[in-house]
Amino acid sequence: MAKRRGFVFPGSEIYGGFGGFWDYGPLGTELKNNIKKAWWQSMVYDRDDVVGADAAIIMNPKVWEASGHTEAFTDPLVECKACHHRFRADKVKEVCPDCGGELTEPKKFNLLTEVYIGTVEENKTKAYLRGEITQGVFVNFANIVNSTRVKIPFGVAQIGKAFRNEITPGNFTFRSLEFEQMELEYFIKPDEKEADKQFDFWKQERMNWYVSLGIAKDNLRFREHEDNERAHYAKAAVDIEYQAPFGWSEFEGIHNRGDYDLKNHKLSYKDENEEYTPWVIETSGGVDRAALFFLIDSYQEDGERVILKLNPKLAPFKAAVFPLLPNKEELVGKAKEVYQMLKKEFNVAWDERGNIGKRYFAQDEIGTPYCLTVDFTSLEDDTVTFRDRDTAKQERVSVDKAVPYLQNKLG
Ligand code: GAP
Repeated sequence: MAKRRGFVFPGSEIYGGFGGFWDYGPLGTELKNNIKKAWWQSMVYDRDDVVGADAAIIMNPKVWEASGHTEAFTDPLVECKACHHRFRADKVKEVCPDCGGELTEPKKFNLLTEVYIGTVEENKTKAYLRGEITQGVFVNFANIVNSTRVKIPFGVAQIGKAFRNEITPGNFTFRSLEFEQMELEYFIKPDEKEADKQFDFWKQERMNWYVSLGIAKDNLRFREHEDNERAHYAKAAVDIEYQAPFGWSEFEGIHNRGDYDLKNHKLSYKDENEEYTPWVIETSGGVDRAALFFLIDSYQEDGERVILKLNPKLAPFKAAVFPLLPNKEELVGKAKEVYQMLKKEFNVAWDERGNIGKRYFAQDEIGTPYCLTVDFTSLEDDTVTFRDRDTAKQERVSVDKAVPYLQNKLG
């Protein structure tokens, strides 16, 4: 369905694909944009203490040395001695899952993706595509403090692509080599109590956000990291997990990074009367994982009918407009007027193919919350029918009230 309806396509498909890379089609792009918009609204616009940033994907390689990534951003890798397939050591038992062969001892495998910058072969320098978007915020800490009036505690929000040489990409877009993250770095005074308070606050905020956008509560849970699984920068870490068809899986990580990063970058913060290295509480979610889990969680079948019960804020189209019959000029003309009027405010679909029932089915399958039909009554009394995706109930609304009616429904 994701491919047929234009949500997600295999990357470079006409050349046989490219493992671990995915492309988003027209509807997937809308879904992802809506997720990012909703995230930015709640993390930046709804708050007074968070500002935004958008750092470069490729940075001076010294950044990754200072941050510990060139040394410690690793996964343990084992290789099958028979078929030479490679696996993450923590994801397999004693033998090769593909052929039952014997596995090598685990080796450390760095996840950073290398790139080469420069025009002349001999002078090319090795750099990295960022393995987490985070470091771009830390290296700009002083720039942000100096160019704004933010005072601790404050946060910096960022959305952007990250890249990891994952050993075992898979489960559709769940683990890819190129993906997008949405992160908050929240800077606080260096104090255990304050850190615990902020950690608990942000962990709850992030859970509430997923629930507020419609993920079933029963499909979400917190899981604290064991001492031996925490990333090299984390003092404490908890995952929000989703009950995916392939098992409970990491959705988003909340980390107490302490002063690890700012200290390594030799950055500090000056108050009126003291200078210190702030601590950081981080929330780090995947946009692709959000798109995947919102799709899975909202997918419902009712006999032949598929309904994507996406929260209207996330739905690619907010409404679809149909003329009852495609070959009646007056109906098509009037429906086009309604369509153009709505298009000024919302992303709206137009459909005149097949019969009304089929058009409803097609819109239900992609999560369009409302379908508006222009029929013969519309020509007499300037009304349209509004049909609700979830209840299939219909209401007549006058055309001049259609925009506020929809705005009100979409919330
Ligand atoms: N800055 C902290 C950080 O990057 P992480 O737990 O490694 O933490 C955060 O990653 C989130 O990024 C994950 O919870 C997940 O949503 C997303 N993510 C990480 N690796 C991914 C991958 N290979 N494919 C898709 N999403 C990924």
